[in-house]
Order: sequence, then structure tokens, then C-alpha cells
Amino acid sequence: MSKAKFKKNHFLVIKEAVDPKVAEFVYNYFLMKRQVCQTFYDFRYINPYNVDYGTWTDAQVPNTYSHYADIAMETLLLQVQPKMEKLTGLKLNPTYSYARIYKMGDVLHRHKDRFSCEISTTMNLGGDEWPIYLENKKNVGTVEDGFPAKTDNKGTKIILKPGDMLVYKGMILEHWREAFIGKDCAQVFYITIINFLLEQMIIYLTKDRTLVYQIGLRVKK
Ligand SMILES: [Fe+2]
Repeated sequence: MSKAKFKKNHFLVIKEAVDPKVAEFVYNYFLMKRQVCQTFYDFRYINPYNVDYGTWTDAQVPNTYSHYADIAMETLLLQVQPKMEKLTGLKLNPTYSYARIYKMGDVLHRHKDRFSCEISTTMNLGGDEWPIYLENKKNVGTVEDGFPAKTDNKGTKIILKPGDMLVYKGMILEHWREAFIGKDCAQVFYITIINFLLEQMIIYLTKDRTLVYQIGLRVKK
């Protein structure tokens, strides 16, 4: 049922993909990590270019805390992967995780994801509610990360509770969020890819160190 729905609509919502109590724990952990990171920068325990504890330098959402491949997020990814595979009917190869704590006034402009984001997901960890919108027509928009698109279609509004996850084809469906009116909202993104050869090519070409976590995990298996 959900497989057919995903095939037709290119998205699906998994309610309580992780237990809301687990989401709450990870949310509090991530708020604390942001605070620790800020302290490390303020007191110069780490140099300003060190992003091991996160960063505020992501150009897509300026001055908002974000983190590639935090180990807790990677662990959650492995936990939800079987559920994602079962409901989409796809064998997925994780490429990376990425998490942000959005702040008041943040906007996510209409965009499609780049080619390494064949199947994108966003999971709400906690904080204030912030809907995400999906464009229903797959031929609308261009694959230009972070660039405003040409249409103002209303799209499908999706509200996620802590622990809920949206799985969508980010390369096909344009997606966005309107100006955030809450205080904090933490989301974690899991980016996976269906085509194993394409994934290997990306790892080889990008030499992205965030992929090292996943490679390390696989080698360990
Ligand atoms: Fe995106």
C-alpha cells in the first residue's frame, strides 16, 4: 500500500519513525551540543574553521546551527533505515546525515536537491512546529539547491510531530518552508541513494569526509 503510494506520489510520511521520547532525548542532546559548540568558539577552545562540533556557516540557511554526520544522528539513521526500506519498497544506501536547529525567521527557499540526494528524508526532532511544503508536479522547478523557483504553487503542506519522518524524492519534487515563527526547531535529514554504483561514484569523486562515517560503519559490518 505505502509502496504504491510512494511510487505514485514520490513521498510518504512515516508517523513515529522513532519513538517521540527518543526524538526528545536527541533534541535535547542537539540543543546542548549547539551550546557547547558556541562555548568552544567563544573561548577559543577550537579554531573558527573547526566544524567538528557543528557550524553556523551554511549558506543555505545563514547563521543557523547545523551539523554533518553527528554520530547520534548517524545511529538514528541506521535505526530507521529498515523501516524506510520496507515502506518505500527500495533498497537504500545511506550517503549522509545532516541536522539543523532552525531559528525564528529562517526560510527554506523552494528548491530541488542535488544528484546525491536521490531519496531525501527529514525528521522532526523537537521544538516548535514548522510545516514543510512539497510541489505536487514533478516537472516544476530546477535542480538548483537553495535558489528561489519560478512558481508560487501552494503545494502540499506537511506537519511533522517529533519522531515523524517525511521521505521524498528531493531531486524530483520541489520543496520549501515558509518563514519560521517559532524559537527553535530541530530537523535531521537522511540522504540515501538507490543506485549503488552511482553512490560509489559520488564517494570516489567527492571524497567527502562526512561519508567516512558510513563507510566505516559498513566496513565494520
Ligand atoms: Fe532539499
